[in-house]
Amino acid sequence: MNLTEKSIEIAASFARKSLPRFAMDMTLGNGRDTLALARMVAEGGAVFAFDVQEAAIENSRRLILESGGEALLKKCRMFLLSHDKFAGAVPAEVLKDVSVAFFNLGWLPGSDKSVITRAQSTLPALKALEALFRRRAEDGHDSLLNVLSYRGHEGGSVEYAAVGKFFNSLRAETPLGNARAEVEVYGQRGNPSCPILFSARFFPAR
Ligand SMILES: C[S@@+](CC[C@H](N)C(=O)[O-])C[C@H]1O[C@@H](n2cnc3c(N)ncnc32)[C@H](O)[C@@H]1O
Repeated sequence: MNLTEKSIEIAASFARKSLPRFAMDMTLGNGRDTLALARMVAEGGAVFAFDVQEAAIENSRRLILESGGEALLKKCRMFLLSHDKFAGAVPAEVLKDVSVAFFNLGWLPGSDKSVITRAQSTLPALKALEALFRRRAEDGHDSLLNVLSYRGHEGGSVEYAAVGKFFNSLRAETPLGNARAEVEVYGQRGNPSCPILFSARFFPAR
């Protein structure tokens, strides 16, 4: 199983215990993660997905329509928008019910690799999600944050270091109030060309 599949498997296992109403795919790409998340969310739920490239929206629309039909496509709200701006696109009453968020960093597979995710927007988006998921934990709800980070390409190792630091801070932080975070890391950390999957579950202290 590769780490993209692992990320989906972790979310599916989370969803079996706590069915998500809403999910967010912070890097839509070709739509594989959005498709998987759309299949996991509850009836009447939705996936909010973000990308900065028109091609990602077109490719994803096609994939989801071919694989899941109109009904599944209706569950996917795709935005041509940088992920750090997500709060401007998702209504506040929906945001508080978002319990799963995915990042699959890097470039759009099949593209010219000129557009890649960067720490400048990835980090603010991660911090905003942390705040959102800590609030949910305070309110008694679990949430899941998965980030697949690649180190092999130019700029990748810088972003990976920032993401790693973010997840370490989740681990290290003395929990305040009722919110806790548990972090798992998957992949061959010793091999600098291998991707790494970070997965954090936020939950109320019981
Ligand atoms: C590895 S791909 C995502 C793969 C995707 N999750 C899938 O299942 O096919 C990374 C995507 O992030 C997008 N991206 C780059 N910067 C972004 C940003 N600031 N906000 C949202 N998406 C961004 C790229 O355009 C690219 O399509």
